[in-house]
Amino acid sequence: MIITLIGYMASGKSTLGKELAVKLDYDFIDLDDYIEVKENTSVSNIFKTKGEIYFRTIETKYLKTLIESKSNLILSLGGGTPCYGNNMNVLLNAPYVKSIYLKASIPTLVARLKNEKRKRPLIAHLETDEQLTEFIGKHLFERTQFYTQAQLTLLTDNKDSTTIVNEIVGQLIQ
Ligand code: S3P
Repeated sequence: MIITLIGYMASGKSTLGKELAVKLDYDFIDLDDYIEVKENTSVSNIFKTKGEIYFRTIETKYLKTLIESKSNLILSLGGGTPCYGNNMNVLLNAPYVKSIYLKASIPTLVARLKNEKRKRPLIAHLETDEQLTEFIGKHLFERTQFYTQAQLTLLTDNKDSTTIVNEIVGQLIQ
């Protein structure tokens, strides 16, 4: 089985993915890290030198490669991965893939992202909390239609990682 963790930037996909992989004894891959190794440069640098369309093209290519591996894998996606091309359908149409949407509220995302803007090219230019709040609000509105197609949605606000990982395992076993 492949479990993909999807959700907005800073929704906890990588942190929870690592913990979940240890708990289930699965491999763990973070798609952004995988892209950085394969392309031998950072995601920010890819956006800067080659642009977002190039990034989305290779993001889709590497997603498909990893999904075809069919191994026991926890795969944390980028915040935009399910929202481009037919990526969400690729996930939904593979019978051995289960997608989990890690849902976080806008204030939670703003609080986490305001100190982490530098490594995230889409929000690096936003200066104030108000600008960040407005951007995330619109962006989440556009993306929620993709995220909510996941087989499972978990609310993550005010929960520690152990609680969330246990909830995921509980839901998967049902
Ligand atoms: C993006 C999210 C980032 C990374 C890229 C684009 C997005 O991943 O893929 O900067 O479109 O939301 P994280 O969600 O891991 O920050």
